[in-house]
Amino acid sequence: MNVYASLFFYFLYMHAESSNQGYSLGHHTDKGLYDHLSHLPDRARRYAGAMSGFAARTSIDSLVEAFDWSSVRSCVDVGGGWGPVAIELAERFPDLTVVVEDLPHVIADGPSRVPADLSRVTFQARNIRYEQEPHIGADVYLFRHVFHNFPDETCVQILRNQIECMCGHGRGIGAQD
Ligand SMILES: C[S@@+](CC[C@H](N)C(=O)[O-])C[C@H]1O[C@@H](n2cnc3c(N)ncnc32)[C@H](O)[C@@H]1O
Repeated sequence: MNVYASLFFYFLYMHAESSNQGYSLGHHTDKGLYDHLSHLPDRARRYAGAMSGFAARTSIDSLVEAFDWSSVRSCVDVGGGWGPVAIELAERFPDLTVVVEDLPHVIADGPSRVPADLSRVTFQARNIRYEQEPHIGADVYLFRHVFHNFPDETCVQILRNQIECMCGHGRGIGAQD
């Protein structure tokens, strides 16, 4: 395929991908939720604040009960925001180390929110749509409340970006409670 054909299919794909999301239709934009927010700093801040409030009010009990975390030593919280779930998991499981991955502006506040005695929670800036998972061989890759924001094609791409790092050992958990 020549370069023009590749570009044509790329733009076709981007358009199809973003225009079939409820957010795009509701906000009369051809961008997806996170692309749109990245151009609107005030709204992005309000969204991040709303997510913080939401995360603080939702219990992780069901996540902890549905899976045996006692033998897990390393977890990557993919799309983990500023880290509320990672912090609570690390507080409940003293042998657990968690890396939180999210967009750079989202994790920016993360380190300052982690209690001083919880050095087992760290942060990694990563765009999960376009970048491969850099943490190879973690025990668990957690996706909590992540996939509902994306159309199917993007979810497939996000999962493809995870597969190699799992090396046949890691387990993926998708939590959508
Ligand atoms: C609904 S929030 C869920 C946050 C957290 N997992 C929880 O359960 O509270 C979705 C998260 O996905 C992140 N996200 C969206 N697009 C992303 C991308 N392309 N790369 C990395 N993170 C992304 C958002 O910044 C947000 O923190």
